[in-house]
Amino acid sequence: MVSIPEYYEGKNVLLTGATGFLGKVLLEKLLRSCPKVNSVYVLVRQKAGQTPQQRVEEVISGKLFDRLRDENPDFREKIIAVNSELTQPKLALSEEDKEIIIESTNIIFHCAATVRFNENLRDAVQLNVIATRQLILLAQQMKNLEVFMHVSTAYAYCNRKHIDEVVYPPPVDPKKLIDSLEWMDDGLVNDITPKLIGDRPNTYIYTKALAEYVVQQEGAKLNVAIVRPSIVGASWKEPFPGWIDNFNGPSGLFIAAGKGILRTMRASNNALADLVPVDVVVNMSLAAAWYSGVNRPRNIMVYNCTTGSTNPFHWGEVEYHVISTFKRNPLEQAFRRPNVNLTSNHLLYHYWIAVSHKAPAFLYDIYLRMTGRSPRMMKTITRLHKAMVFLEYFTSNSWVWNTDNVNMLMNQLNPEDKKAIQVGFSFVKITAKLFSPHPELFQGFLLFVLNITYNTYTFIQDEERKGLPWQSSG
Ligand SMILES: NC(=O)c1ccc[n+]([C@@H]2O[C@H](COP(=O)([O-])OP(=O)(O)OC[C@H]3O[C@@H](n4cnc5c(N)ncnc54)[C@H](OP(=O)(O)O)[C@@H]3O)[C@@H](O)[C@H]2O)c1
Repeated sequence: MVSIPEYYEGKNVLLTGATGFLGKVLLEKLLRSCPKVNSVYVLVRQKAGQTPQQRVEEVISGKLFDRLRDENPDFREKIIAVNSELTQPKLALSEEDKEIIIESTNIIFHCAATVRFNENLRDAVQLNVIATRQLILLAQQMKNLEVFMHVSTAYAYCNRKHIDEVVYPPPVDPKKLIDSLEWMDDGLVNDITPKLIGDRPNTYIYTKALAEYVVQQEGAKLNVAIVRPSIVGASWKEPFPGWIDNFNGPSGLFIAAGKGILRTMRASNNALADLVPVDVVVNMSLAAAWYSGVNRPRNIMVYNCTTGSTNPFHWGEVEYHVISTFKRNPLEQAFRRPNVNLTSNHLLYHYWIAVSHKAPAFLYDIYLRMTGRSPRMMKTITRLHKAMVFLEYFTSNSWVWNTDNVNMLMNQLNPEDKKAIQVGFSFVKITAKLFSPHPELFQGFLLFVLNITYNTYTFIQDEERKGLPWQSSG
């Protein structure tokens, strides 16, 4: 079987979501590990007055691409930014771009999605379901398409406790839902959303389940693979340890804990914390596309990119490692010494919220007022609570994911690919315990996320930093 870099040699890849967390890591890794790939079409929309080309230039000028710039300075020539707003009819592609894409694309990686848990249903359906369908319809016209790789989430079927590597029946027929949304006004949509999403916690997960079904049904004649990551966190190794550029998921809460602001959270000590590093997800996606491209499996291939079944790691352990690491490496200007109580007891939780979050914030705001400064801590705490509520469901429950396809994929890799495109979980165990035995990960995390260790790195933009609860200026 050809190796992974050999498979990608001369291929034209189409990537959505290249300006996002996962997409940019995938773009970097593809160009670094498979330098003979012919070109990568990145579908990017205009945003904040920037053209897609300017946005891509910004992404590839970032720290994440330092290593690639060193190893393969000509990589820029391979990236072709294509203007595309995925929520528009026909993805808003120009006729010319559409023709080129249809003629030349060999492999698609569909990463773009709205990952906001509280997205209103109409918008979540528009991007996660309708845009996915539009991309599939475009893929059907492609003359040389070998693989359609769809990035989903391991929680798409979180209403089940045991999740196999199959696409389950959807909660509702996506076509019927799309038709209904056309005539419903926003008020009605909001009213029926809780009923529709049923035992799923949010519109994001609900629409990702619908998207999988659309991919399976509409992509029946395509060679489709689905990778389902659980909670994607900072990189394990590549391009350097600890790389991350967002505060989705638990990363923001870790830092709030380190700052001594987060003192309690609704979580079960024994619930599985299924965290997977972004580079492992990317590597698995590249390898899964390679496998489907080379072997042309008869059925859709689904990969549960999770760690819990093979390397169980619990929220109680996460809390222990995070707190003990921050005690050893205190953050500057911490509000208090880090200490967190996880509890699944309703009364206890509200007690701790009042005593250890609200009361100190209230008093601190009085102190700020008395010293002529604007109060900000209550506002910070309110924002923190909102972020916590979104995560509670995941920190209080556990799931068992079957990973047979993942294990099969690992066994298919030749020794060089195993080294270069690591998808295995033996090391994820180490990663999961990222803060304790691997201080370089922790330092990487601080370096890239918080810009704490070296002020010269300005990875997080000022605007983003202002958005963090503990940076609020009142
Ligand atoms: N992060 C996780 O923990 C996690 C876990 C499981 C699964 N996943 C899956 O991984 C994939 C990537 O997630 P992520 O964390 O990288 O998300 P992200 O950082 O929010 O990136 C989302 C990407 O989608 C693009 N996008 C959004 N709306 C668009 C539109 N209307 N037209 C064109 N592009 C649009 C964004 O472009 P703009 O820059 O223009 O907004 C961005 O590039 C998603 O499918 C998600 O469901 C993520």
